[in-house]
Formats: sequence, structure tokens, C-alpha cells
Amino acid sequence: MKLQDRLKRTLLLAVIGFAIGGAVGGWSLLQSTNTENQDDGGGHEIVSAKIGGTFSLVDQDGVARTEKDYAGKYKLIYFGFTYCPAICPTELSKMAEAYLSLPSDIQQNIQPIFISVDPDRDTPAVMKGYVGLFMPQLVGLTGTPAQVEAVKKDFKVYAVKVPEGSGSDEYTVDHSSMMYYLTPDGQTVAMFKTGDSVEKIAERIKGSLQLE
Ligand code: NI
Repeated sequence: MKLQDRLKRTLLLAVIGFAIGGAVGGWSLLQSTNTENQDDGGGHEIVSAKIGGTFSLVDQDGVARTEKDYAGKYKLIYFGFTYCPAICPTELSKMAEAYLSLPSDIQQNIQPIFISVDPDRDTPAVMKGYVGLFMPQLVGLTGTPAQVEAVKKDFKVYAVKVPEGSGSDEYTVDHSSMMYYLTPDGQTVAMFKTGDSVEKIAERIKGSLQLE
């Protein structure tokens, strides 16, 4: 890639990042000023009824899965890809650490899930090897490109392939990094950013279960 093209790409990514940051920032402001309306009547505040909840994917053992397979459990979901050099492993380690810090009776009510945004490379077999690095309880979901596009749209996940290196097949995936926390009935009640700590995630999970 020529230097000029690299600079153009960097600038483009900065603009996209700024647009996403602005949208999330505006959305956070809305949340903080409009909290009275964010309750589903059952004691859960809802982040947004329009973020996530459904999927039709394939797990690390090749078994077709939808959200109904994890009914009755809270879900902690992170989107990324197994070739990700830094952010995904860090966030999944954080998820594992938060989950494993919980008492076992709470753990039983939580399903940690990693969903791939790179279905071409992340086959069920690749996902199986990868999720096993973090904890046995972590489920890895992938699928056809169309299935992955559908879940990305449902959770408003940003992820695009970016060519990398000289080989025509080489690419990385630029993606948003957000951990979603959903109630057993599929309402997204919290979203954790990369800066959020293990303790914050663990406390939020404990707090939601104490509401019941
Ligand atoms: Ni990543």
C-alpha cells in the first residue's frame, strides 16, 4: 500500500470512528437524561429494546443455535474474530475473569458467548480451539456470512474486512468492541466498553441477579 493510500485509509477510519463515537456518546447522553422511561416493568432497566436479542448461528461443535437454546440465562456476549491480535483476546480474558469471579450459583445463570464477525476464517473448529483458551464455559458462535450479517445488524455491531499485506487473501477486520449483557428474555440491559473493569462487569451482573 502506498503511503498516500495508507494515510487516506487512516483518515477514513478516524472519520468512521468519530461518527460511531458521536452516535454512542449521543445515545449515552439520552440514557442519562431519560432514565425513568428505561424500565421494562420487571425491575430491569433496558439499554435499548432495539439492540440485539436474536441470532441463528452455529456453535463450536457445529450445532445450530439460536437465543432460545440459552433461554432462562442471562447472556454476556462479545463480538470479534479469532485472528484479532489484541483487543478481542483482552476483552475475552476480561469476560472470563469477571465470570469466574462470580459465585457458582450466579455463574449457573449466566451464559458467556463469543460471536465471530469473520465467518470466512472462523469455522466451528477454529472457534472451538479459540474459546477453549479462555474458559470451558465460553460458547463460540459463527455461521454463514448471511447469518453473521444478520446478528451484526440486530446488535448494531460495526465490522468490516480491511485488506492487509501484499497477499490478496490477507485481511484484518475493523470492528466495534462492546460487551453486551442481556436478560434471559433477551433485553440488552448493559453494554461494557473496553475501558470498563472486570470488577464493574462482575458487580453489574451480581446487581441484576439480586433484583429477582
Ligand atoms: Ni478484535
